[in-house]
Amino acid sequence: MDRYLVFGHPVRHSKSPFIHTLFARQTQQELEYGLAEPAVDEFAQALCTFFDQGGKGCNITVPFKEQAFTLVDRLSPRAKRAGAVNTIKLTDDGVLLGDNTDGAGLVADLKSHGVTLADSRILLLGAGGAARGALAPLLAELPSELVIANRTHTKAQQLAAEFCDLGPVTAQTYEQLAGLFDLVINSTSASLQGELPPLAPALIHTDIAIYDMMYGASDTAFISWAKQHGARQTMDGLGMLVEQAAEAFTVWRGIRPGTKQVLRELKRNLGVI
Ligand code: ATR
Repeated sequence: MDRYLVFGHPVRHSKSPFIHTLFARQTQQELEYGLAEPAVDEFAQALCTFFDQGGKGCNITVPFKEQAFTLVDRLSPRAKRAGAVNTIKLTDDGVLLGDNTDGAGLVADLKSHGVTLADSRILLLGAGGAARGALAPLLAELPSELVIANRTHTKAQQLAAEFCDLGPVTAQTYEQLAGLFDLVINSTSASLQGELPPLAPALIHTDIAIYDMMYGASDTAFISWAKQHGARQTMDGLGMLVEQAAEAFTVWRGIRPGTKQVLRELKRNLGVI
């Protein structure tokens, strides 16, 4: 049977096996999907061994995405732009193709929530790997403006300079932010420490859409904060998780699974509904 897995550390709580097993059932594809948690300095060896032993493809999660970028034979244009690989496919001619489906997953999830990106004013919080992966797919939707704000301002400036050939992207400090944004995307890891990005409450209004790439059984700290300040449309990263997986599944199997039912089952599994 064709074998796939997700590499990460830690990865025990990954929902990818659950999601891909449902996709396989739904599309009647015969495959198995497992987990691998190599020591941080043993990822390269573990990846080689997996493909030597007949593996067909894998997902890569924290902290291996940047390393995977350097280990594949060929990169898709979107992986090249993202500087990270979250999906590897062994092609029929034996090439390890590195791809990145995170940004496409974010955009697909935003659209499934009815968020309009064209001509919108987007604020992206954070300038790490998650922000980098999101930039090209967001700019491809032709927003009127995309502002990056980051605690370390120079990193936001670097990202804006790197992507400004793709659209109207600029960097501002948190203090400089002003005016009406249509959408705020939190790509920071602040919630992991139970912290909030230092965003002024005045930026939140009733018609703003709030997206947090993090997720949990209850509202993330950022979503709770935004609701307190009047945001009515809030979304967490669970849908992005399912959508990036659907995109990876499509890369591997050439067939696109439906995501709505799988997202519902995942929520039930997590105790969210
Ligand atoms: P990822 O790959 O998930 O994006 P990362 O590359 O470590 O992770 O980036 C984390 C991002 O969250 C960075 O933009 C970081 O800001 P700095 O560049 O200043 O480090 C941001 N971040 C982390 N904790 C934060 C906090 N408490 N407040 C604001 N931003 C925070």
